[in-house]
Amino acid sequence: MDAYEVQLASYPDGGIEAKNFRVEPVAVPELRDGQVKVRLRRLGLNAGLANRIGGPDTTHGPGINPGDVPGSDGVMEILESRSQSFEPGDLAVGKTQWRSIDVTDAPQLRRIPASEADVPLETHLTVLGHVGFTAYTGLRRFGDLRAEDIVYVSGAAGGVGSCAVQFAKAVGATVIGSAGTAEKVRLLRELGVDAAINHHDGPALDLLRQAAPDGIDLFYDNVGGEQLEAALEALRFRGRIVICGAASQYGKGSDRQGPANYQRMIFGQLTMRGFDVSSNEDLRQDYEAAVASWLSEGKVRSLHTLNTGFSQTPEAFASLLSGGNQGRMIVDCDS
Ligand SMILES: NC(=O)c1ccc[n+]([C@@H]2O[C@H](COP(=O)([O-])OP(=O)(O)OC[C@H]3O[C@@H](n4cnc5c(N)ncnc54)[C@H](OP(=O)(O)O)[C@@H]3O)[C@@H](O)[C@H]2O)c1
Repeated sequence: MDAYEVQLASYPDGGIEAKNFRVEPVAVPELRDGQVKVRLRRLGLNAGLANRIGGPDTTHGPGINPGDVPGSDGVMEILESRSQSFEPGDLAVGKTQWRSIDVTDAPQLRRIPASEADVPLETHLTVLGHVGFTAYTGLRRFGDLRAEDIVYVSGAAGGVGSCAVQFAKAVGATVIGSAGTAEKVRLLRELGVDAAINHHDGPALDLLRQAAPDGIDLFYDNVGGEQLEAALEALRFRGRIVICGAASQYGKGSDRQGPANYQRMIFGQLTMRGFDVSSNEDLRQDYEAAVASWLSEGKVRSLHTLNTGFSQTPEAFASLLSGGNQGRMIVDCDS
């Protein structure tokens, strides 16, 4: 079986496009003790990667430079194993480079238990995956989510956002979501949000005031920029902001826009907390139990856009950055 990888080919000149990547054949390394050889079945794409591409001025971890292979999370099938934890044929979830076949250290992967054999593979990259854990951690630990809250989620139809709106609804909160197309707004309504905003329909604050005339208690921000400024105005006394991401600002370098109205935090006694999900593993058991029960009660579901074929990864990633996804952007690498 031939193996391929996706490399960054060039720095973007403006927005990131598919042509900034190339798909190349690659030799699979020899397996060592403690390692497994895996075939990528589903690859989840993350908007945050964009902030690491574009030269050395990055704020999101090590830069991704031409020749480098980006990484995200995926569902993998074990082809060969020199680890006691896995046997050929097992399915696992974990971090992966953008390679169709690879060798990886077994502890990097989490085996999908037999009890989840009927769960569609994509679900392990959405509500049960990295983006789901991110949404849960942000809302629960950093947002102190309560049933009586009015919650506003930006980027609500995206990977993290679609999990955040569903989790907030599942605990009984009133939820408003914003997204960038009429189709996504319809999707948010299907997910049960109490109000949905198309952020292209006017100034962010006007739209938010119409959707939440009494204000909001919690803002879960995936986008930053104008959305963050609007939320700062709309937050009620002692309101909370969770900074999960700032997709509208990625790749803008020194043109990044911060909230001019941050002084609202003083007399509003607001809190704003950023978080990195990777430092919150102690919450994983709570998260898995909560989502398993919401899934079985039909309160949450996987929302994703599937792209067919590993070689489509560059197009899928560029599309994600221009809002072409509904839910998590996922590449089906089986064909
Ligand atoms: N803190 C953590 O540990 C952590 C972990 C994972 C992800 N994240 C962050 O979570 C956020 C969501 O990640 P994701 O991978 O699920 O991506 P995503 O939300 O699926 O995709 C990004 C979305 O941002 C929206 N967007 C882009 N520019 C915008 C603008 N100018 N105004 C309004 N919306 C804009 C687009 O949706 P529309 O079409 O709706 O505009 C786009 O689809 C990212 O910021 C990412 O960095 C943080």
